[in-house]
Parts: sequence; structure tokens; C-alpha cells
Amino acid sequence: MNLGAPEGTKDILPPQAEIANPEEKWRNTGLYQKLEGVAREAFRRFGYEEIRTPLFEYTALFHKTSGETSDIVQKEMFTFGDPEDKKGTYSLRPELTPGTIRAVIDEGLFAKRSTWKLWYFGPAFRKERPQKGRYRQFHQLGVEAIGASDPLLDAETMILFADILGGAGVKAWKLRINSIGCAACRPAYREKLKDAVRADLPSYCEDCRKRFERNVFRIFDCKVEADIAKAAKLPTALEHACDACKAHMKGVELALRAAEVPYRVDPRIVRGLDYYTRTVYEFTSSKLGSQDAVAGGGRYDTLVKDMGGPDVGSVGFAAGVERILLAMEGQGTSTPIDFFAVAVTEAERPAIFQAATVLRRAGLSGDMDYEGRSMNAQMRKANKSGSRFALIIGPDELAQGVVTLKDMAGHGERKVALDEARAILKGEKP
Ligand code: HAM
Repeated sequence: MNLGAPEGTKDILPPQAEIANPEEKWRNTGLYQKLEGVAREAFRRFGYEEIRTPLFEYTALFHKTSGETSDIVQKEMFTFGDPEDKKGTYSLRPELTPGTIRAVIDEGLFAKRSTWKLWYFGPAFRKERPQKGRYRQFHQLGVEAIGASDPLLDAETMILFADILGGAGVKAWKLRINSIGCAACRPAYREKLKDAVRADLPSYCEDCRKRFERNVFRIFDCKVEADIAKAAKLPTALEHACDACKAHMKGVELALRAAEVPYRVDPRIVRGLDYYTRTVYEFTSSKLGSQDAVAGGGRYDTLVKDMGGPDVGSVGFAAGVERILLAMEGQGTSTPIDFFAVAVTEAERPAIFQAATVLRRAGLSGDMDYEGRSMNAQMRKANKSGSRFALIIGPDELAQGVVTLKDMAGHGERKVALDEARAILKGEKP
């Protein structure tokens, strides 16, 4: 019986994963690998180090960090238990920020250094209603710059991600940023906002009326037209930010402008996780449809302390790998292999296999038939593979110690020694 894949999971299959017009560097890599390569390289250039944390954590960790009022904690976690474990149930990680901060504190990293710039690339799990760009298992790539409040660091994370998008060939993107204030100015702003909404509360949608009680800031997230219009007239966090928050935001903007990263300040960006302070931001792509957020991030200046670490600021982002891949689509078709080895009769199969092994070890890419097909059928396969050359061995070639190299684009064929074939395939000889 075939049960099928669990709902909301996505297999990454070969042709979708291949790239056309491969710049030399990413030749013969899939889109997925290209993105991973581009990201790793950007992380290294910006001075970030890799961290890998478990795929699951104690459920309580996410309650304390992502937040009780977040959608993630309210309804999206895959939770399971070990009745023996006194610390409660586990949950598959819906995001990687909490585990990363937990690890940094747990492993005593602050005793070694006051700041840690870390990156990750791995699966995350959310029990959401699946649709294009929204899966139950997806992957995030992201960074956490832990231990400093410098606005340059906020800008750095955005510049870094813009660089990754550029390297991956994604052009249609937008960056929107906002400041949601800090522990000093946010409580007073919350009251102002509540007062402004309260007067009109019955006219808001049901979700917004819940948001009003649980987390009034999320009203800015509402997708209902009428509420969007009302939200546009509400007092914004930035207007009510304290001088320190305003100066911080200015610092972020100056650095983004100097780096020529285009952005727009948008008071509607409030983010759905509880730990943010000051800077919040989102990258969107017009190629994605309704799930258009490719990345989200921001500053979290109280989280490390709240989790038992030192009183230090931090900032980071995470991007949805599948969403970047969707935005990269259109770049992809198969990268041809260098040769397809063909045996004229069954007797030459060991010889073509040996020739293929020699050429593969020399750095060339090649394939052959493993189903015992006729010569004609093998040639059809060679054609289909998009291979540049067919490398044919029959009784004559075997006797003479040569191979026939047939140019699949119709530029003739010739009999050459295997070593010469290697040189031709490598482009060292015409
Ligand atoms: P987030 O906005 O919840 O932030 O997720 C970041 C990105 O993950 C989203 O912009 C989206 O591209 C992708 N994503 C989220 N859910 C799904 C899904 N169900 N299917 C596919 N892609 C998805 C965070 O997770 C924060 N930890 C970001 C952060 C890091 N803030 C500070 N440091």
C-alpha cells in the first residue's frame, strides 16, 4: 500500500533541481545546491559560523520564546511526548531561533566570546494548511547575530540576505522595515493603540477582535481589506517610539542606504513572534503569490536575558528555502552530461563500464544503460540524456583498443584511444 507523503511535505526531485546557463562555478549543481552554495559563501564573507541544533526541543522552549500568542505556539506545533521525561513534551522545531539561543546559553558560549554570529540551514515544521509556498516541513536558512545592539548589525543581516537573493538570481524582491519600539516605549504605545482600536472594535473582523485581546499589534497583519484601511489610520509604533529607538532606526536606514539596498519603511510590518524589539523586517517576492514572504527577521534585545543568558541585544532573520526556490524557478532545465557510454553487444558492457569509470574519475560526467537494452535503444537513451557525446564500444573497437566518440549534435564521429577521448571531452583537444 502506498500511503503517500504526509500532507504538506515536499520532495525535491531532479529536473526541478537542475540549472541552465550554469555559470562555471555552479555547473552540474541543482538549484537547491546552488542556493545552499551561494548562502554558505555569503555567510562566510560576512563572518558568520554554522550552528546545527536538534530538530526537536522541549515544547516549553517555544512557549517561552516564540510566544504564547503566536500562531506557531497556538496551533502549529507538532508535539509528542516521552512519559518518562519530567520536563514535559517535545515539539518539532517550528523555527530555529529559540534552539539557537538555547544552545548558545546552554553550551556556555558567552564565556568564550561576547558576540556570536551564527548561521543555519535546516528543516522546520509547522502544522499549517498547506498551499503553494506553505508546507508542513520546510527549510529555513538564516542567521542570528547575538550579543550586540549596534544598528549596523541589523543592516548587515539585511544586506547579507539581499546578497544571497542576488547570488541566487532572484530579482523581483522588496524589503520592508519597521521599528516596533522597546521595553521603554512599547507599553505606552500599546495603550495608545488599544484606545484607538477600542472605539471601533465591533467593526473589525473576528480575528482582529481576538488580536485586540491577545496581541493588539497583530491587527496590522490583518489581510481583510476593510481592516487594512482602518489600520492605515492607527497610530504607528515608529511615531510613538522613544528617542533611542528612533535613533537606532535612523542608524539602520543610513547603513542600508550606504549599501544601496532598496527598502521601504512600512508600519504594517509587526511580525508574528513575541520576541522582537525595535527593528523588524520582511523580504517579499512578487513571484510567490499569496505566501509572498521569502524572509523575515528583526531584533530581539530581551530574549537572551529572558532565557537565562546575559543582558545583550541580538538580531537575525530566517528565509524559507522552498520560497526562494520558487522565486528562482525559470532558471532551471537539465545540465547535460558529458558522455553516454554505449555497448554495441552485450560482450562490450564490461568495457564501457570500465571506460565510464576512468572518465568519471577524470572529472567528466557520464552515464550508461543498466537495463540490457539493444544498441538502438541505448542510442535513443543517449539522445534523451542530452549528453554531448556518445562513447561507443563494439567488437572492432575492443579489438583495436579504441572507442568511437560520436558528437550528438551531428558533428561526426571518430575512433580514438580512451585517453584522447578524455582530452576531447575535457575540451583540451578539438
Ligand atoms: P518567520 O517569519 O516565522 O520567522 O519565518 C521565516 C520564513 O520562513 C518566512 O518568511 C517564510 O519564507 C518561511 N516559512 C515560514 N513558514 C513556512 C511554511 N509553512 N512553509 C514554507 N516556508 C515557511 C522566523 O521563523 C524567525 N525565527 C526569523 C528570525 C530569526 N527572527 C530573528 N531571527
